[in-house]
Amino acid sequence: PETILVSELANRMAERTPDVIKSLMRMGLMVTGNQAVDADTAELVIDEFGHRAVRVSDSDVEQVIDQVQDKAEDLRPRAPIITIMGHVDHGKTSLLDAIRKANVVSGEAGGITQHIGAYQVKTESGALLTFLDTPGHAAFTSMRARGAHVTDIVVLVVAADDAVMPQTVEAINHAKAAKVPMIVAINKIDKHGADPQKVRTDLLQHEVVVEAMSGEVQDVEVSAKTGKGLDNLLEAIALQSEILELRSNPDRAALGAVIEAKLDVGRGPVATVLVQNGTLKRGDIFVVGEQWGKVRALINDKGERVDEAGPSVPVEVLGLDGTPAAGDVLNVVSTEAQAREIADYRIKAAKDKRAAAGAAITLDQMLAKA
Ligand code: GTP
Ligand code: MG
Repeated sequence: PETILVSELANRMAERTPDVIKSLMRMGLMVTGNQAVDADTAELVIDEFGHRAVRVSDSDVEQVIDQVQDKAEDLRPRAPIITIMGHVDHGKTSLLDAIRKANVVSGEAGGITQHIGAYQVKTESGALLTFLDTPGHAAFTSMRARGAHVTDIVVLVVAADDAVMPQTVEAINHAKAAKVPMIVAINKIDKHGADPQKVRTDLLQHEVVVEAMSGEVQDVEVSAKTGKGLDNLLEAIALQSEILELRSNPDRAALGAVIEAKLDVGRGPVATVLVQNGTLKRGDIFVVGEQWGKVRALINDKGERVDEAGPSVPVEVLGLDGTPAAGDVLNVVSTEAQAREIADYRIKAAKDKRAAAGAAITLDQMLAKA
């Protein structure tokens, strides 16, 4: 339930905290300035002081944001978003590099690809795939914790000369918790002593039964070094993505997730956003976590300025008023006033939460002393 600290309530009405406490006492509530009251109680107090309450609740925020419910006929196929995970040094980055080189989208040659942590490749069959280069599991977990469900498919990289290791298990657990289908890429098969079969039997212990063991999880032997098996891996991804029937509506206000964000000395706050639904356009007004902004420029994974980014497209977004956090959700709204109001509401809600947590600790400490 929504709450507000008594001191904050007084502050917002420009009244003295002791007067608000007295008013609450008359209602039979014994509270201090550091304690919170629920929204209904707050409204009674506000009435008593002759003010008018304007509640901005979570549901109001959602109403402003979720203006569009997609109709089935508006949905179009979209590219799958694939996150590569696995144990340290098992070849995640090498595999991504190899996929990229083998399938460079025309026009990239010669240009230095800007690292934005996410990029798209086009397979020979013409299918677009979006790969996420999240640095380690922490980012994946924090994104999930923030409610940003960005990954459609996890590619679990396991080195055939090392088999299943602690972070392999972590990755399996993350994929399972997120209910994201997994494809196992058994890497480094070019190496002496590579034992793909050991990888498969190791995986059994973690309830991952690959197709070669009569299970459901696709497994592909690859070598990031020689490029062997990369086609098979891309095919496995394409197959999995077909099964998922990924759809979105490109003709609506954009919804996306922040993959990473930083404060750039020259450009100000920059967020790499993966558009999940709708199309993000230059000039769009948006709210992202506790920040808001107006899209000043969009830069794609090749470092080119673009006018818009549709579903499953990763872009750098310029024009923020502050730096959001990885996993923050971006929503396009209609007016600057709305964007500001939602951002303000979120900042305040986060502050209240911290204050409430702080008050709880103080109370504990007091009890401990007594
Ligand atoms: P972290 O990002 O540190 O977790 O590692 P990673 O999983 O991204 O591994 P990375 O791609 O950096 O590769 C680690 C080492 O393995 C590098 O020295 C690569 O050259 C080597 N390597 C990766 N793939 C292969 C492969 O298929 N065959 C061989 N022989 N070596 C490989
Ligand atoms: Mg790496």
